[in-house]
Amino acid sequence: MQDQTATFERHIHEQQLDQRRQVSGEFTWLLSGIVLACKIISEEVRRLGLSGKSGGAGAINVHGEEQQTLDIFSNKVLLECLGSRGNVGILASEENEAPIVLVENRDDGEYVVMFDPLDGSSNIDVNVSVGTIFSIYRRPENHNGSTASEVLQPGTQQLAAGYCLYGSSTVMVYTTGNGVDGFTLDPTIGTFLLSHPDMKMPDRGSIYSVNESYADSFPPYCRRYLHWLKSGEDDALYSSRYIGSLVADFHRTLLKGGVFLYPPTSFYPDGKLRLMYEANPIAMLAEQAGGIATSGGESILSIKPNDIHQRVPLFVGSPFEMQRLQTFIQRPLKV
Ligand code: AHG
Ligand code: MN
Ligand code: MN
Repeated sequence: MQDQTATFERHIHEQQLDQRRQVSGEFTWLLSGIVLACKIISEEVRRLGLSGKSGGAGAINVHGEEQQTLDIFSNKVLLECLGSRGNVGILASEENEAPIVLVENRDDGEYVVMFDPLDGSSNIDVNVSVGTIFSIYRRPENHNGSTASEVLQPGTQQLAAGYCLYGSSTVMVYTTGNGVDGFTLDPTIGTFLLSHPDMKMPDRGSIYSVNESYADSFPPYCRRYLHWLKSGEDDALYSSRYIGSLVADFHRTLLKGGVFLYPPTSFYPDGKLRLMYEANPIAMLAEQAGGIATSGGESILSIKPNDIHQRVPLFVGSPFEMQRLQTFIQRPLKV
């Protein structure tokens, strides 16, 4: 019988005690805002066909993509739930062009929260798993006074990162830099309960995940790597799985190992995924679980951002597959 007291909130509190952080409760209160928002979004996802929130909203976001009704709904829920915490200074969302400054002075709003409110929008109407991704920073004490300088911090500075996956069940996976834990929403009591303690990515897997329709425009090293994944060499027998929702493709990689890649393509020369609210939180989770995440050139977490919506190539997975990728990146082209 599941321990119905092993809640997300209790876990955060105990983790802070373990880390001998002065348990002010501020961080727990902040995270409870994310938990509340994800519960509301989860309910909406589950009733989508009935609630009239499916389909396009007839608006275009800052990326030139048609916003789905659920993108806008999820974004509004997160802005409200986090905006009401009282300790969040700045919010940045995939769906908002500029960061939103809630509290000018740092003392009253010490946290910066960035999020992708609804990841996998193209899958919403076909009942395929989607998710919410979040990344939490502390506002820097020294900065040049611009909001951008408070927000544009490398992924190594994240206080916490996580996602909520609205799949066959609703699962919250998060890290505060002290390992990765997963919680499943028990709808009978409306509470996330610890279901995946201390998650570790397998050292090696048997699944690769990439949108192969773009393969002709991948960089040569990437095409050679893909060929190796399919070759059966080095007793590497892989099958291919691609859901098209980053959260779902990564969650499977976290649990089963292997590799997920979104390389540069002719349409997205810098990759499609956004650094601040997709790649960085995923990379923190991957590394905390024993995996590796790079842009093909450098560790994702070390990238110094220059724009909150900047895109980056993402290769993330088990040590074996990621080290093998590195050999293709370093191998000179056969002339
Ligand atoms: P979002 O719905 O937040 O825009 O994210 C979609 C992303 C990501 O979830 C997924 O990995 C990728 O788009 C899929 O892109 P392709 O459809 O080009 O494969
Ligand atoms: Mn996304
Ligand atoms: Mn999104």
